[in-house]
Amino acid sequence: MKATVYEGPRSVAVKEVPDARIERPTDVLVRITTTNICGSDLHMYEGRTDFEEGRIFGHENMGEVVAVGDGVDRVRVGDLVCLPFNISCGFCRNCEKGLTAFCLTTPDNPKMAGAAYGFADMGPYDGGQAELLRVPYGDHNCLVLPEEARERQSDYVMLSDIFPTGWHATQLACVQPGDTVVIYGAGPVGLMAALSATLKSASKIMVVDRHPDRLALAEEIGAIPIDDSKVSPVDQVNEQTDGLGADRGCECVGYQAHDPQGHEHPNLTLNNLVQSVKFTGTIGVVGVFIPQDPGSPDKLYKEGEIAFDYGLLWFKGQTIGNGQANIKAYNRQLCGLIQAGKAKPSWIVSHELPLDKAPEGYQHFDARDNGWTKVLMHPDGGSHN
Ligand SMILES: NC(=O)c1ccc[n+]([C@@H]2O[C@H](COP(=O)([O-])OP(=O)(O)OC[C@H]3O[C@@H](n4cnc5c(N)ncnc54)[C@H](O)[C@@H]3O)[C@@H](O)[C@H]2O)c1
Ligand SMILES: [Zn+2]
Ligand SMILES: [Zn+2]
Repeated sequence: MKATVYEGPRSVAVKEVPDARIERPTDVLVRITTTNICGSDLHMYEGRTDFEEGRIFGHENMGEVVAVGDGVDRVRVGDLVCLPFNISCGFCRNCEKGLTAFCLTTPDNPKMAGAAYGFADMGPYDGGQAELLRVPYGDHNCLVLPEEARERQSDYVMLSDIFPTGWHATQLACVQPGDTVVIYGAGPVGLMAALSATLKSASKIMVVDRHPDRLALAEEIGAIPIDDSKVSPVDQVNEQTDGLGADRGCECVGYQAHDPQGHEHPNLTLNNLVQSVKFTGTIGVVGVFIPQDPGSPDKLYKEGEIAFDYGLLWFKGQTIGNGQANIKAYNRQLCGLIQAGKAKPSWIVSHELPLDKAPEGYQHFDARDNGWTKVLMHPDGGSHN
């Protein structure tokens, strides 16, 4: 099969590799029809993780089931399915509680919790930017989609990661109807947090970034864009909230947060959040932070440490929630919102490419080139919309 393989910093190639196949009776084999490039892939693509050369990328996947193992009861050949980026078992202590991002049995390292397709430090699993994908514990992990999803894949594929992840940011931040919300980052995840806050009837949603194309997408769904290359985001949020600060804040950037000039400061968005969220406010952090980052220009962060305004956070009585999103906790209900026409997450999609064009997709999305807001690839050559 053809697959998108990591070849070292800022280099991917589409290569022939051995076909993915059923390895265990509980596996499902999926022929991938749509697979996305994610901001999480970019940390790996830039060589800022220990993702091994030769591994296959791709954790935002949907497609058609082409084979099932002998132990699979529910999922059938021919089903159209969307796969949560987390690979989970369904029966460990964490999965039982819905915390599938922290599954205890699917990582290969017993000291770790959580596994994913084509991801650094999250198990040995191949990614789905390929023609075929092996899905462990298929009955548990496959979200079987309604028939209409075949022609609306750019909406439904978002259930694999960024729509539930944006929702998770608003869950961690405890967004309630009527709340004011500030979101740092207008990448795909920040935009999905803005969509989620809208669906939760937030009264005012402010989105901070410096890319006009991304800010325009935030504005399209009624959020207030804040361009931090022109104004101080903290001042702007205070002005928009009568000097109180926002009720809730979402971090949707991660450890490669930088100033508008491009210099990385891994503490920048976190400290801006502490400053722009109100006393007793709540903050949800879904942007990725990692335990070690030897490639960081920040001396502390090489060891995963951050100069964090903890004193101010404490003084303001704020609460902060972190981590990978438990996609399965939300994907079925968010699927219902897509089906009912109440959510259309595809509004951020800028490019749909054949798999062969993966190197080009990575290059432009990584450069945050104007107009490259979300890239979908179709390994089967279809269009599906
Ligand atoms: N927790 C999860 O489950 C989960 C899931 C998916 C993605 N992620 C993470 O979410 C983060 C965002 O993903 P994405 O796909 O939107 O990526 P992205 O890189 O396309 O978007 C990040 C955006 O943040 C902006 N930005 C950078 N520094 C900023 C700053 N100081 N203030 C405001 N904006 C700033 C960038 O201009 C960019 O538009 C990444 O770290 C990704 O790994 C986490
Ligand atoms: Zn992703
Ligand atoms: Zn589990």
